[in-house]
Amino acid sequence: MTRQQLYLGLTLVVTICGLFYVAIPRSEIPQPVRKAPSSSGRPVFEQRLVAVGDLHGDFENAKTVLHMAGIIDSSANPTWSAGSTILVQTGDIVDRGTYAWDIYRLMQSLRSEAAGAGGKVVSILGNHEVMNAIGDWRYVTPDEIKYNGGTEQRMRDMSADGWLGKEWLANYSSTALVALSPYPSAPLLSFTHGSLRPSYSNLLPYPDKINDLGRSLLSKALHAQVPPHPPNPYAGLPRDATSEEADLYAGGGPFWWRGLAEMGNEATVCKWAEVLKRKMGVRRIIGGHTPNFEKIVDRCNASIIIIDTGISRAYGGVLSALEIVYTLHSVHHPKHGGHRQDPFVAPTVMTSDEPIPGQRYVEREEVHAIYPNGRKLIAVEEQEITL
Ligand SMILES: *[C@@H]1O[C@H](CO)[C@@H](O)[C@H](O)[C@H]1NC(C)=O
Ligand SMILES: *[C@@H]1O[C@H](CO)[C@@H](O)[C@H](O)[C@H]1NC(C)=O
Repeated sequence: MTRQQLYLGLTLVVTICGLFYVAIPRSEIPQPVRKAPSSSGRPVFEQRLVAVGDLHGDFENAKTVLHMAGIIDSSANPTWSAGSTILVQTGDIVDRGTYAWDIYRLMQSLRSEAAGAGGKVVSILGNHEVMNAIGDWRYVTPDEIKYNGGTEQRMRDMSADGWLGKEWLANYSSTALVALSPYPSAPLLSFTHGSLRPSYSNLLPYPDKINDLGRSLLSKALHAQVPPHPPNPYAGLPRDATSEEADLYAGGGPFWWRGLAEMGNEATVCKWAEVLKRKMGVRRIIGGHTPNFEKIVDRCNASIIIIDTGISRAYGGVLSALEIVYTLHSVHHPKHGGHRQDPFVAPTVMTSDEPIPGQRYVEREEVHAIYPNGRKLIAVEEQEITL
């Protein structure tokens, strides 16, 4: 075989594999499962998490997505119906659409209802929240300004004393580290609006450094509001912003960078994912900001998940939510047949319904994308752990 024939043959094989890869729906591809006893029966612990991406002022689609993901009921004034679920919204509630204020109000009421039901709402600031905070209103529509009572009222709402400004300062963060259980062995997930850059200088200590900078920047902007641009000139960041705060909001910072979504080279992006996962101690890095108008995008064995599908009709109105279900099951070792009397094989008897730290359990994490026409499996991991 000549070298040319060999190349031709290899190219053909790769192309055919590629064709099959594209042709098989994601949910039918066998997922890597770490070798472990299969979990069955009732879990001793279960945590459900739902994450929703950019909403851009579309209150109707926001409610539809939250209902679809089992977070709210379908009434006109929907309430939390998700029990102990954790809901994460990864920012960009505002701009492009008209009804962002209604979405912020809904999130605010869901936050307290969730807390009462043992659940939690985690809210992340997007670049568009910060844009509005610093008076960059380029993506605010005239309809929205009118709907919110005019420019002055809208500024008052977002000021440090306004209902929305206070809510942002108290209950929104620039990034979030979310644990899937209260135990030391819990897998950790990272949520940020844009992409975290492995070489971003203030990545560590994660997430406190980023959140401290985000909070101080937001506070400066809301305490010294500038007249909005347009029609006024763009003022940029607050005058007293530090260089670290400027870095946070720069193109390479977590509000704007798109590297984890846009890097075309799979080997490079997976190397970045490994570095980030190791530095931050997380299992997955989840964010929005860069829309894919067909689906939730997972890369590098779902180490990276990008959940912006352009849910707002200001984009394409593609509805989606990410769901993660994490369970712990007691380990039931198979019976040892004739060896049952062997005094050296101690029987494993689980007598408690509550997980006990230090004991062995099977942990299972299932990651799905939820769409109006069904759910798609993104990843499943199962392994035996010491709690
Ligand atoms: C932040 O959320 C908590 C919990 O729901 C709520 O009690 C509080 O009022 C919120 N803070 C602001 C300023 O909205
Ligand atoms: C994904 O997981 C499979 C099976 O565990 C492993 O062989 C592969 O190297 C992983 N790929 C990446 C990019 O981490």
